[in-house]
Amino acid sequence: MAYERKNIAEMSGYVPGEQPTRTDVIKLNTNENPYPPGEGVIAALHNVSADHLRRYPNPTARGFREAAAEYHGVTPDHIIATNGGDELLRLLVTTFVDPGQVIGTAEPSYSLYPVLAAVQDARIKTLQLDDVWQLPANFARALNKAGAKLAFIVNPHAPSGRLTSVDRLSEMAEQFKGVLVIDEAYVDFVDPDLEHESTELVRDHDNVVLLRSLSKGYSLAGLRFGYGIGRPELIEPMLTKTRDSYNTDVVAQALATAAITHHGQAEETWHKVRRERLRISEQLAMTGCNLVPSQANFILVEVDAAAADGSGAAGVYQTLKDQDILVRYFDQDRLRDKLRITIGTPQQNDTLLKALADLLDVAVD
Ligand SMILES: Cc1ncc(COP(=O)(O)O)c(C=O)c1O
Repeated sequence: MAYERKNIAEMSGYVPGEQPTRTDVIKLNTNENPYPPGEGVIAALHNVSADHLRRYPNPTARGFREAAAEYHGVTPDHIIATNGGDELLRLLVTTFVDPGQVIGTAEPSYSLYPVLAAVQDARIKTLQLDDVWQLPANFARALNKAGAKLAFIVNPHAPSGRLTSVDRLSEMAEQFKGVLVIDEAYVDFVDPDLEHESTELVRDHDNVVLLRSLSKGYSLAGLRFGYGIGRPELIEPMLTKTRDSYNTDVVAQALATAAITHHGQAEETWHKVRRERLRISEQLAMTGCNLVPSQANFILVEVDAAAADGSGAAGVYQTLKDQDILVRYFDQDRLRDKLRITIGTPQQNDTLLKALADLLDVAVD
């Protein structure tokens, strides 16, 4: 006898990337930052006392929300702190979408979106990205026609790293009739020369929520801390009703507040990751590899079908794994011939490039 709801019994869960227990593996599969968190964060960790642990945390992470508000030039009422960006995604679905209603997104995209829709017993309408991984021109109109109440756009896009401009997002926010969630889990790695100022979308549109994560940009994937930025009318129901009573713990709040306050320390890692992204992309492109120009901390590389004795990307993935180099392979449309590779330290990237060169039978400097 199954006790769970019918939609839960019928759905499949999210499949996370592998987390090996060995520490000598070159781990380029889950887009973690290869550098440690800044000194300010480590100092905050040392300052956590037994007495802090004994007491409940601030229910809404007020201190963090004040620090994040200052960083983004908004008020704390524009910010909700969550247990990873993933919790914000769940809150958005449970707060704004009834069972049976439609959630819109593009494909391929973050594979958690359909899972969250299935949990809520909502329907999902997916539109295909075009050949260069851009959102289709009719994205907002098609979702309006499908009656979508909420839409997820990931920007920079995962798993391609392609960036959609703020102007284009603004047009979509204008056209779309539901809540437009712009998942910016990777936005910290966007080249500053592009002047990608997405917080202005929140000022200009009453239906936009931006998702930020401390997992990648701030080297805090293990802490589980993310936040949303939106107009207070959108944030308030999640902050005061649908959120768990103490959704972020006292350690997470202290470290996340330190991370945002000392953001300059994280910015140094963004700079290093961008520099390596450029170096690896150029080297791979020179060898004739096809890859999408990425503004995230990963690149999506096309693998020749003949590679690894004709087993293509899946074979290359496995052979790299046998050599203790983990990258991500997705067995799904448009991705079966590709590998998503997280940008690591220069040494890790060199090892990867050498292994790839041997496998793809090309020369890399
Ligand atoms: C596109 C995207 N959005 C959101 C998240 C959530 O990140 P977290 O829950 O670690 O903050 C991830 C994590 O991999 C992601 O890839």
